[in-house]
Amino acid sequence: MLPVNLRSYEALAAERLPRMVYDYYAGGANDEILLRESRSAWDEIRVRYRVLRDVSQRSLATTVGGHQLEWPVIVAPMAFQQMATPEGEVATARASAAAGSGMILSTLSNRTIESVRAASTGLLWFQLYVYRDRGVTAELVRRAERAGCTALVLTVDTPLLGRRERDVLNGFHVPAEFEAPNLGVDMRGTLASQHGAASALAQFIADYWDAGIAWRDLAWLRALTSLPIYVKGIVRGDDAMLALEHGAAGVIVSNHGGRQLDTALPTARALPEVADAMGGRGVLLVDGGIRRGTDVLKALAMGAQAVLLGRPLLWGLAVNGEAGARHVLQLLRDELDLAFALAGVCSPAEATRDLLA
Ligand code: GLV
Repeated sequence: MLPVNLRSYEALAAERLPRMVYDYYAGGANDEILLRESRSAWDEIRVRYRVLRDVSQRSLATTVGGHQLEWPVIVAPMAFQQMATPEGEVATARASAAAGSGMILSTLSNRTIESVRAASTGLLWFQLYVYRDRGVTAELVRRAERAGCTALVLTVDTPLLGRRERDVLNGFHVPAEFEAPNLGVDMRGTLASQHGAASALAQFIADYWDAGIAWRDLAWLRALTSLPIYVKGIVRGDDAMLALEHGAAGVIVSNHGGRQLDTALPTARALPEVADAMGGRGVLLVDGGIRRGTDVLKALAMGAQAVLLGRPLLWGLAVNGEAGARHVLQLLRDELDLAFALAGVCSPAEATRDLLA
């Protein structure tokens, strides 16, 4: 029998993946307090459902930054997906397009931007980190534009990599058979070898990315491209406003899946403040711990236009490749549709804050 929910996919994936890979995907920073709370914060919110609203006709469709989506879920950027399935991000792109959702491709992917673009007709955005060498960053931006990505997602919660102790203990590195073709320059050596007390990724990031990145760099990026820029990693209203002031087209409330600053604010608690500060200006998305249709409903009710779904896709890929990822998305979509019906909601626009307690 197929897994019945996203949690059962994780349990199956944990049995199938090598320990180092499972721990890298699943793990969080330090004591993993935020990792746990990212999930439990959604659970703690209660739904004040409505009754007798005629929910016989429902639509999950929505528009995000001018893109029509069949339902308000986009696949989050996640690194090194070939460690889960041989086709890697190409499988994810096909699955997300088939499931009527979109995808954000990580800088740290195993497949090229161009091959992922070719695999999908759906929404594809490129997630960007800023290198000390701004020329490398600029070239990556041009490449994403040329390939046909329609937005950039700038991750801002990673001046350095959070300390994921599972990765330290496992000597995490990217197995040598996998490429990292979107890094901009050949840095495979660092990623593929072990570095004693640091994970290879932490070492790589400390060596190449810019811990000096600041708001002025957002203005620099703005001037470099006409693509919309979404700033990912925001948990405060004032930072969301700064993002808009510096030319971002929107923000993604995120704490990197609990992988950066432990004991940071869970996104389910940060989202209302950010939504209130933005007051409907710009795109507002959220990720972190979303595993149930009711979580998506709650995020919409708080003011997000859509959510990003991360790790469950990796579990789907690990269990059954592209079909597994597609099934993960289908499970969540069905859950969301049922949650709408049972909460007396017929469309994303009807998911408003009064539903929450
Ligand atoms: C990469 O961005 C990671 O969180 O491992």
